[in-house]
Amino acid sequence: MLKWWQETVFYEIYMPSFKDGNGDGIGDFKGLREKMPYLAELGIGGIWLTPFYPSPKVDNGYDVSDYCAVDPDYGTMADLEAFVAEAHAYGIRVIADMVVNHVSTEHAWFMESRSSKANAKRDWFVWQDAPNNWESFFGGSAWEWDAGTQQYYYHSFAKEQVDLNWRNEEVRSEIWKVFDFWLAKGLDGFRLDVINNLTLTRNFPDNPVDASGEQVHVFDKDQPGMTEMMAEIGARIRARGDYFTVGEISSDKLEEIEKYAGMDGLDVTFNFNFGSVPSRDEIVAELARMQRVYVDGRMPTLFFGSHDMSRSWNRLADGREDVAQLLAMLMLTAHGVPFIYFGEELGMADFVPESLDEMRDVQGVYAYEQALMAGKSEVEALMLAQDKTRDKARAPMTWPEGFSDGAASWISQVTPDFERARRMYRFYQALIALRKTADFCEPGYRYFEADGEFLMYIRGDYLVCLNFGEARTISNAWGNVTEVLANMALVFDSETIVLPANAAVIFKI
Ligand code: GLC
Ligand code: CA
Repeated sequence: MLKWWQETVFYEIYMPSFKDGNGDGIGDFKGLREKMPYLAELGIGGIWLTPFYPSPKVDNGYDVSDYCAVDPDYGTMADLEAFVAEAHAYGIRVIADMVVNHVSTEHAWFMESRSSKANAKRDWFVWQDAPNNWESFFGGSAWEWDAGTQQYYYHSFAKEQVDLNWRNEEVRSEIWKVFDFWLAKGLDGFRLDVINNLTLTRNFPDNPVDASGEQVHVFDKDQPGMTEMMAEIGARIRARGDYFTVGEISSDKLEEIEKYAGMDGLDVTFNFNFGSVPSRDEIVAELARMQRVYVDGRMPTLFFGSHDMSRSWNRLADGREDVAQLLAMLMLTAHGVPFIYFGEELGMADFVPESLDEMRDVQGVYAYEQALMAGKSEVEALMLAQDKTRDKARAPMTWPEGFSDGAASWISQVTPDFERARRMYRFYQALIALRKTADFCEPGYRYFEADGEFLMYIRGDYLVCLNFGEARTISNAWGNVTEVLANMALVFDSETIVLPANAAVIFKI
């Protein structure tokens, strides 16, 4: 028996950018509700909402200042509940982003902790008299001096995002309450933010530095005890009911990523070596690795975009519709749990900020400031920041009627191509409909072949051919095949199938 999430196509919604319902230029629950019919027609079965909790938004909500409330920018608790109820009425489940590695420095827990060394919550965070060499994942030192209590606190991301001390039992039991709170609200599970970062080492050895001078994050993530912690989180949520957990794992080792997923951990984990590769040459080889590693009913995740990386339209498809459709066919027919990033189904392109004024993402702004500090010119700093900024993928959804009927959107929009959007949408819709058939829900592959940049597999009664490489002709071992869906006109007969570069086709065999 498959679990619901094993048959679900998920859709990531970046809260401020999906749809503005009250005219202030920021996406919200009201706007989301208006767009439920759109999502239902697309055919997705699950929504991942990025953080919607009260937050000073230094990192756009990944700096939570209250775990059990809704940020007024997005609406009220009642709006959230109405949205969840409506999604459920459409047969769509909703999972929430849980950012439990760190809180905003404005969270009451931290305000108490920093009030004095003797405070009961002092140990809820990581305090040290002297910093080691650990760097924040956004750049710069991971330690911030607190003048009031004359110690440094640890932050693996921005200095306004302070890491919780997961060794502290009270911290853990508070977080379990947060999980319970949201499950009781009717949510169907969680996406767990940077979950292998929960800092568990306390002797603070310096991290090594590689030949190019870059710090290697050895001692500040994946520390001993992480596997047990992940198992405990998974078990707690599973014990509550039929919920789903997906972990964001900042690791490039497939064995690490895979080991956290399954019945003894979270349900699934993200593999960034597949989803966020800088070019498409590596995709086939990585899928082949995943096919070997994920056995015994374990499932990988499949995605090519998120709010943290350049859109796949630019990064992987080079702005080509056939390649974008090739990627979509892989993501929606392979073995795994797919996550579409909002707008991908419309072939949305990156937004590139042309000045510091247009930049919203803390990672881009940090890169800019650090470049200036290192003596770079403003132009050089801007170029470095354009490379680092995650604003690229955060521009508002390009709805035909506009994103907001009031104020200008919180971040600039990209120029839409509505014709392309319609074609892409129909292609996604067809793929999702096909994926719902039993053939694509069964685990694993009936046949799997990866040859260089060419990929071919059989799931159920369907043969999928995906050509990421040069044109090739294959012999047709199945004879009387019927073309079901393709991204270009194809020539085939009962003997051979001709596959031009970038061809993607599904045959019924
Ligand atoms: C995750 C989020 C990212 C955020 C970071 C810190 O990587 O996806 O957007 O900046 O965690 O919370
Ligand atoms: Ca709004």
